Amino acid sequence: MKTCIITGANSGIGKSAAEQIAAKGYRVILACRNIVSGEKACQQIKTMTGNMHVCVMKVDLSLMSETGAFADEFISNFKELDVLINNAADFDLSRKSANITVEGNESQFAANVLAPFLLTNKLLGLLKDSSDARVINISSQGLMLYPNLKLDFDNLQGQKKYNPAATYYQNKLALLMNSLTLKEKLSNTNVSVYAVRVTNVKIDMDRYQNISSILKFMYNIKSRFAISPYEMAKVYTILAADRKLDGFLYDEKMREVKANRFVYEKEPRKRLWDICESLTSRDND
Ligand SMILES: NC(=O)c1ccc[n+]([C@@H]2O[C@H](COP(=O)([O-])OP(=O)(O)OC[C@H]3O[C@@H](n4cnc5c(N)ncnc54)[C@H](OP(=O)(O)O)[C@@H]3O)[C@@H](O)[C@H]2O)c1
Repeated sequence: MKTCIITGANSGIGKSAAEQIAAKGYRVILACRNIVSGEKACQQIKTMTGNMHVCVMKVDLSLMSETGAFADEFISNFKELDVLINNAADFDLSRKSANITVEGNESQFAANVLAPFLLTNKLLGLLKDSSDARVINISSQGLMLYPNLKLDFDNLQGQKKYNPAATYYQNKLALLMNSLTLKEKLSNTNVSVYAVRVTNVKIDMDRYQNISSILKFMYNIKSRFAISPYEMAKVYTILAADRKLDGFLYDEKMREVKANRFVYEKEPRKRLWDICESLTSRDND
């Protein structure tokens, strides 16, 4: 039986992907911050698919100590891993100022960039033991609105200024940069690395009660043109479970698409990788 971890699988696209991948007979681990809604999703997936090899593990990805402990616990309990989907993302647009964690990281950067980096690197040993492993990182179509976007190395953790939406796009750019670096590093192994360019997908607005009425109004308009989480999750499932592909970034129709220009620049990618390595190695060796 193949094993798959999906972060943020208690809701939205991650939950739908967990259901689809469980339906294919995989053991699926829902890596969730909210254990109550994780357990609820787990029960629903078991009922819908008849697959009893679905379980929840708790992790707050904004904390590297928790992310590292999650990986250690997974390694000792499961000993095998074929697919890792770094789906969770912090896009809480109600935040007014940078939230610094007890570990000293800005929490969005920590959850959206550092955690996928640490999780993937800690689990790489198990992934390399699989005959056909996949790492799938989740990006956003919104990046297309900023084709010339560059990573602001002086503001990676909101040191200069903070805006949750701008931070989110900086994070997604950084995640794509690290994904491409990882793909290159693993080119001679059995581990394939993919990224998904998620389009406008319906969001459960009950989850985002704190946002302003203007933003709620905008989300409502946007949702009229959105596809369902289940539809979007089909791309995750194809990349996780179908035949290997050579490409890097795929859209909602499984077309290979180009990332922002900056993602292909080697020097900033190396700089970012080194920063992530240093920020995640502090407490987790
Ligand atoms: N929906 C869209 O239109 C859209 C567009 C572009 C990209 N995307 C990307 O698609 C992915 C899935 O989003 P979605 O639409 O399915 O949204 P969602 O339903 O809000 O799911 C986000 C998930 O991330 C989890 N998460 C956030 N911060 C976390 C943390 N610190 N630790 C652990 N888990 C955390 C959330 O957990 P909690 O339940 O605990 O909050 C939730 O399970 C994300 O990467 C997002 O950036 C979505």
